[in-house]
Amino acid sequence: MKTAIVVSGGDAPGINAAIDGFLRLADHGGDHVLGARGGLAGLLNDQLLALDRSVISLLAGSGGSILQSSRDPALQQPDARERLLAVLTRHEIDNLLLFGGDGTIRHAAPLLANWGISCIVLPATIDNDVACTDYTLGHDSACNFALGAVQGIRATAHALPGRIFLLETLGAPTGHLALAIAYASGAHLALLPEYPLELDWLADRLKAIVANDGYALVVLSEAYPDINHLVAEIPQRAGIRIRHTALGHAQRGADVSHRDRCIARDMSRIAWRAFKEGAANGVVVLRNGALALHRERLPIDSKPPPDRALYEFVNQR
Ligand code: F6P
Repeated sequence: MKTAIVVSGGDAPGINAAIDGFLRLADHGGDHVLGARGGLAGLLNDQLLALDRSVISLLAGSGGSILQSSRDPALQQPDARERLLAVLTRHEIDNLLLFGGDGTIRHAAPLLANWGISCIVLPATIDNDVACTDYTLGHDSACNFALGAVQGIRATAHALPGRIFLLETLGAPTGHLALAIAYASGAHLALLPEYPLELDWLADRLKAIVANDGYALVVLSEAYPDINHLVAEIPQRAGIRIRHTALGHAQRGADVSHRDRCIARDMSRIAWRAFKEGAANGVVVLRNGALALHRERLPIDSKPPPDRALYEFVNQR
């Protein structure tokens, strides 16, 4: 069996661990593996390389992806199918192991299936916003990175009280990541794009929190509407200084947590076994606590918004 591994869209912590897991199984099973440099666009351009297992093992705990990715919608090109089939035939590739998020699963995976190309997708994005799976690889590591930042912010907030701290997370366009971090950190408020709040209400609420607790910790999703306006307006309306920390891409490149390392290896094991058993297409999903290969096409609608009850619990207690 010969597999090409491709990383598409935003990288996520755990991709290297999953590649390492797949390579180990392939080595033991006498299988061959190549990696595409530059995502699906790279694959289309015949950018295939041999993977050095010793290097990949060393990087298994690091964020990012040893195989460079791309957001180029290369499969939309008119001659994409023919070019792709030619590359796969030239290298005698039987199947693709594809890492990607919402866009890859909704747009690239169905095309590959239509073209008769065997492909299993491992959902990987810190955003945890893929429909039909409760978990995407990298989410836990990104949450842990943010929790480390909360620890530091709380230390200084306690030492010099009387301020509002906004911790901005990635996760656009959804608030799943921010809500997970707000809940786990015991933040005073979560600000999510799906549930915008009225500015005067927010200012009053923050004022009350600072009066009571000495500081306010707010976890804010990067997609919350008009963050600059909020940062300028709240101090005016509440009469309290704001300190804003944006985690940015440092969060996406976070070190890989224990949970993500285990899930990465479990996902790659499921994919390898499925290939060996002749499965043509599917996505490895987590549902009700169990990882499994979902063979049917995933619904093309977006994941539902973040849990409203949890959001209200975080914001109103
Ligand atoms: O989808 C993953 C993600 O990291 C989002 O959280 C973020 O908004 C986006 O990618 C950033 O994309 P880029 O790296 O292209 O700026």
